[in-house]
Order: sequence, then structure tokens, then C-alpha cells
Amino acid sequence: EKARLVWLEWKENLSKDDDWLPPADGLYGKMKRKTGTINVLGMGVHGDVAGITTTSGLFGKIPGRIGDSPIIGAGLFVDNEVGAAGATGRGEELIRTCGSFLLVEKMRAGKSPQQACEEVVERIIYVNGGPDKVDFNVKLVAFNKAGEIGVASMMGEEDNPPFASVITRSGLRVVTGKSLLKGKQ
Ligand code: GLY
Repeated sequence: EKARLVWLEWKENLSKDDDWLPPADGLYGKMKRKTGTINVLGMGVHGDVAGITTTSGLFGKIPGRIGDSPIIGAGLFVDNEVGAAGATGRGEELIRTCGSFLLVEKMRAGKSPQQACEEVVERIIYVNGGPDKVDFNVKLVAFNKAGEIGVASMMGEEDNPPFASVITRSGLRVVTGKSLLKGKQ
């Protein structure tokens, strides 16, 4: 029901030139939809690497759109020799850059997870014509088999950097990363 009401609100705000109007009683006017794809990457006690990426898709997407999450190498890639990477944000950009695969390959070539995350974001900015042209977000998270972690996003704010929640034997901690285009969100 909540999703249906959010969809109605979206329809009502789509255009000023149609006949969709919000209800006078403001039944769902204040409701804000939390959206988001989630990556969960892990390493077992024997050093085996695993990962999953959920998808909420893209709100208002055209029927049949697949997105990056179910495409290995786009929204998720794991390699038992290297580590794991996952992505959220505009799926099309991760598909056309093979974003998660590229990230793991950069780690294989010796980049730290943080360097690799940032370089993939840079690549996505580059293939879209540079910082002034991009109007979407992507976020990448990764770890290598040494347990190093990387997080980077395209858009972000100083007081709201991209982050990953990390659980180890020592407990839970939050690792903050870097937004390459600060202040553009
Ligand atoms: N990253 C989720 C999607 O674009 O479908």
C-alpha cells in the first residue's frame, strides 16, 4: 500500500499539464520514500569472498529495464583471489563501464580498494563528458583480501560522505569514503 501511495504521489507531480492532482487531505503528502540498492560483501573465516546486491531498480523505470544489480560485473563482482566490489546508483552507467568488474581488476593490478573505487567513479565521469555533464549518482564499495576497504561516490556533500558499515570480529564500524564531485548533489 505504501508503495502504491508513493507511486500516486509521483504521478501527481510528474507534470503541471495533466489532470493528476494530490488529494486535498494530504493523505500521503509528507511521506518520503527511502530508496536504495544495497551491497553486502563478505569474507568467510577461510578467506572465501562472497557478495550480493539487492535492487530497488529505478523509480518510474520503463517496463523491462534490468538495471545493473543482476548483471555480474556491473552491480557486483567477486573474485576469490582479489576481493569484492558492489555498486549502487544509476545502473546504466555501471553496465556500460563494467563498473564492479573494472574495480576488482584495478585491485588485482595493485590499486587499494579506495583508489580503485575512486578511479571507477572518475571513469564514469569521463565517459559522460566530465564533471559538468553528470547529473546522477553512483557509489562503489569494495574490499580486498587483506581486509582494506574502499568507498567512493560521484555526488556528495561535505557533511554526508558515502560510507560502508563494516562488521568484523572487533565489532561494527563505519568507514567513510570520498565523493569526487562534492557539493553537486
Ligand atoms: N543500481 C540499481 C539500478 O540502477 O537498477
